[in-house]
Amino acid sequence: MGEAREIKAPGGGLGVLMPGMGAVATTFMAGVELVKKGIAEPVGSLTQLGTVRLGKRTEDRSPKIKEFVPLQSVGDLVFGGWDAFPDDAYEAAVAAGVLEKDHLSAVRDELREIRPMPAVFDPRYVHRLSATHVREYGSPREAVEMVREDIRVFKRDHGLDRVVMINCASTEAYAQPREAHFTLENFERALDRSDPAVSPAMIYAYAALMEDVPYANGAPSLAVDIPALTQLADERGMPIAGKDFKTGQTWMKTIIAPGLKARMLGLEGWFSANILGNRDGEVLEDPESLKSKEVSKLSVLEHILQPKLYPELYEDISHVVKINYYPPRGDAKEGWDNIDIYGWLGYPMQIKVNFLARDSILAAPMVLDLALFLDLAQRADMGGIQEWLSFYFKSPMALPDLYPEHDLFIQQMKLKNTLRTIMGEEVIHHTGLDYYE
Ligand SMILES: NC(=O)c1ccc[n+]([C@@H]2O[C@H](COP(=O)([O-])OP(=O)(O)OC[C@H]3O[C@@H](n4cnc5c(N)ncnc54)[C@H](O)[C@@H]3O)[C@@H](O)[C@H]2O)c1
Repeated sequence: MGEAREIKAPGGGLGVLMPGMGAVATTFMAGVELVKKGIAEPVGSLTQLGTVRLGKRTEDRSPKIKEFVPLQSVGDLVFGGWDAFPDDAYEAAVAAGVLEKDHLSAVRDELREIRPMPAVFDPRYVHRLSATHVREYGSPREAVEMVREDIRVFKRDHGLDRVVMINCASTEAYAQPREAHFTLENFERALDRSDPAVSPAMIYAYAALMEDVPYANGAPSLAVDIPALTQLADERGMPIAGKDFKTGQTWMKTIIAPGLKARMLGLEGWFSANILGNRDGEVLEDPESLKSKEVSKLSVLEHILQPKLYPELYEDISHVVKINYYPPRGDAKEGWDNIDIYGWLGYPMQIKVNFLARDSILAAPMVLDLALFLDLAQRADMGGIQEWLSFYFKSPMALPDLYPEHDLFIQQMKLKNTLRTIMGEEVIHHTGLDYYE
């Protein structure tokens, strides 16, 4: 056995602050309140239902993750956030139309209490919303100070020592890192001179890190993944993770693609179509926001299939992703995948996947897990990029000289082995030869 890391005890409450109190955020908050009351089960949450095997198979030790690592208990979570509309969490959840009336009525009082703080909003980054609940500020620096003050007031009002931030705001227009983002010094200057390269998502992330708040990005927007903010997270020892929750179609892709590669089956093409009708879908109708999402969705196959290593199987894959806004569907998204594969001697076959998903039902437990794991990382003094949380993201962050790991099963192994390591248990390598010696 290795040596366990020193981890501060969870004690007190944990605040979860979310820029963006829309479908995902309110489904998460309502769900946790329902779980607290014993009305529903936290299905989909690894921290609540998952186990981790320890030692050899013959030892029969598989505790629940939440009993193995010192996580904050769900009963002690407190919520807050910012939104570009003034609806409280109850009204926003009703408008999102994800949860049924019975569920929402049972936690109405709790949700009513959660009123969004005015958003740091910039119509250049989200075109499709006519925001009504926004902060007035002169420079991004001023906006940062406002968000920092919001965080301090939230902590004071709720008597909290620890807070984490999970970005659940609308997808911003596609942007690539540029001069203002390359170093912390450049970024600080950009904050002062109102450089349009500074987006709201970056303002929230910067404010969080300056307030010692760990940060995860659930949206595909460029935020903590710019070098300036990664540097800030390292300097301040703050855990960060991202980006873009891996919920429906991409999650499925990162299950099927490793399976094809494991069997050395070839792939000619993968066509993915989606219809969705929630506000996320409406924002994604804008070509610039759509590009952020498409880039995020497209990267996974290339990394999993490694065409350079297997040119005869994966060299010229045709990978197409389409997302269409179709209002009647609301949050009940539907995805179709047509996968053209080939086997022995090049004979073609097809796989069809029709996933009738619920976007926010898949995303909500991830918000919970990320909040609890980020807080654990902070108490374990693990700053910077948390690669072990890649499991939750379509575009996982990794150091610049490492390629991101997309294979869901490697991601899961990495996550569980990280938990084993910080608790001083052996990592599990699955050779199993020792049983037969
Ligand atoms: N649901 C999923 O399965 C899933 C998966 C991956 C990523 N995401 C991402 O998560 C995010 C949230 O998704 P959703 O379905 O809840 O969307 P949503 O449209 O219901 O909620 C987003 C909320 O953010 C608010 N907002 C926009 N700009 C803001 C700003 N600058 N500050 C504060 N609030 C702001 C909007 O008013 C809206 O209420 C989106 O970026 C989406 O792409 C969702």
